[in-house]
Amino acid sequence: MMHIILRTRIHKLLAAAAPVDRVLIKGWVRTRRDSKTFSFLEINDGSALANIQVIAEEHLENYEEIKRLTTGSAVAVIGAVRESPGKGQKWEIAAESVTIYQIAPDTYPLQKKRHSDEFLRTIGHLRPRTNKYGAAFRIRSELAFAIHRFFHDRGFVYVHTPIITGSDCEGAGEMFCVTTLTPEGLREKEFPGFYEQDFFGKKVNLTVSGQLAAEMFALALGDVYTFGPTFRAENSHTSRHAAEFWMVEPEMAFCDLEENMDGAEALIKYLVGHIRENCAEDLALFSSFVDKSLPDTLESITANTFIRLPYEEAVRILTASGQRFDYEIAYGRDLQTEHERFLAETHFKQPVIIYNYPRQIKPFYMRVNDDGKTVAAMDVIVPRIGEIIGGSQREERSDMLELRMRETGLEPSEYWWYLDSRRYGSVPHSGYGLGFERMLMLVTGISNIRDVIPFPRTPGTIEF
Ligand code: 4AD
Ligand code: MG
Repeated sequence: MMHIILRTRIHKLLAAAAPVDRVLIKGWVRTRRDSKTFSFLEINDGSALANIQVIAEEHLENYEEIKRLTTGSAVAVIGAVRESPGKGQKWEIAAESVTIYQIAPDTYPLQKKRHSDEFLRTIGHLRPRTNKYGAAFRIRSELAFAIHRFFHDRGFVYVHTPIITGSDCEGAGEMFCVTTLTPEGLREKEFPGFYEQDFFGKKVNLTVSGQLAAEMFALALGDVYTFGPTFRAENSHTSRHAAEFWMVEPEMAFCDLEENMDGAEALIKYLVGHIRENCAEDLALFSSFVDKSLPDTLESITANTFIRLPYEEAVRILTASGQRFDYEIAYGRDLQTEHERFLAETHFKQPVIIYNYPRQIKPFYMRVNDDGKTVAAMDVIVPRIGEIIGGSQREERSDMLELRMRETGLEPSEYWWYLDSRRYGSVPHSGYGLGFERMLMLVTGISNIRDVIPFPRTPGTIEF
């Protein structure tokens, strides 16, 4: 009688409570060691950090071929799972058959040794096959799931906001233009009416934030969030900026700045807790090889109430610190990463929420406070990274909103639909944006944003 045998993923097998009669696994050879009468194969299928050891004995009909298996080769193995006498593993597979898909030539770049992150970036198409990047991208997947879970459990509605848009949410003008008119070097200034001929009949760009659209849905559905890719054409060559990154943007009706801060703090704590609970093995790799202080950092995030500090107070602390900064700090200037890191890393040694920033350094949509000089903005800053969340209570008064648009150089008539929301049933509402990659950097200890994105896009780099 023929037995159909289903493929088992190795992570399931490693968690098995008892030996299993017969399994089929498929994966890639990490190493092969030969003894006189058998070969040890370490197989990994990407489902977990750990490999499973396969013992292939000389009686196998293709034993000669098995002895030619190299690192990176692909195989299918059928055999019994039994207790392993070897150290460091509970189970091993006694092979009944080893089917070879392909033997990798010895030019395979990922031989068994540690490679630098810089080298691995040059082989971005292969790096998810390494222990470190496999772990990083499994955690990335789990983190995305945890975000949906957090909001879903709290009754938030998930909204897909557009990727192509005609508005500039942050008003910074750092956008990628989307056009089907391609002649090199054509500019609207040189060719008036250029964009009228274009696909949408106006100038459009890739979104820098889903916020404005999310606000429309919050004012209809109450509590919503959007979670998707965003794009910024800022020419920042830092380890924290990418041209294409993902942002989580909740938006809540009937919500003030205080509640907004509560929500942001709860989200970060929940995500850290979820990853610690569900990705323990992958996380251990980062604690051992990437950032030894990671467990302490994560513990301090979940254990402490975030400090809440008005911007003015932050400036006072920075000025009084006697610390030398590359960028001088004074009231009215934006905080730079070095300032943020000083506060979170050196001064408070834990996450800090800075709020009530001067109105002249923040976008038009933030609510103007009663003092007339600050807006109800809040940034969450964390050790090692600096800003991880930016948010605010939104300006719900239409006359003030129009004034702020003019003040920041936006033409109110182009945002007529946004202004409509302040005309019909306007209410206090708030929201924030969490940089998804920065959150991943926080939980893994990885210090360069290029290393938490499958195929990163930064100025001058788009190989894959
Ligand atoms: O502070 P930002 O610019 O806020 C907004 O876009 C708001 N519209 C969000 C909202 O209120 N709905 O960006 C939010 C977060 C930052 O705190 C940072 O974590 C991340 O997005 N971020 C970037 N991450 C990677 N690369 C970049 N170039 C980033 N720019 C911002
Ligand atoms: Mg910001």
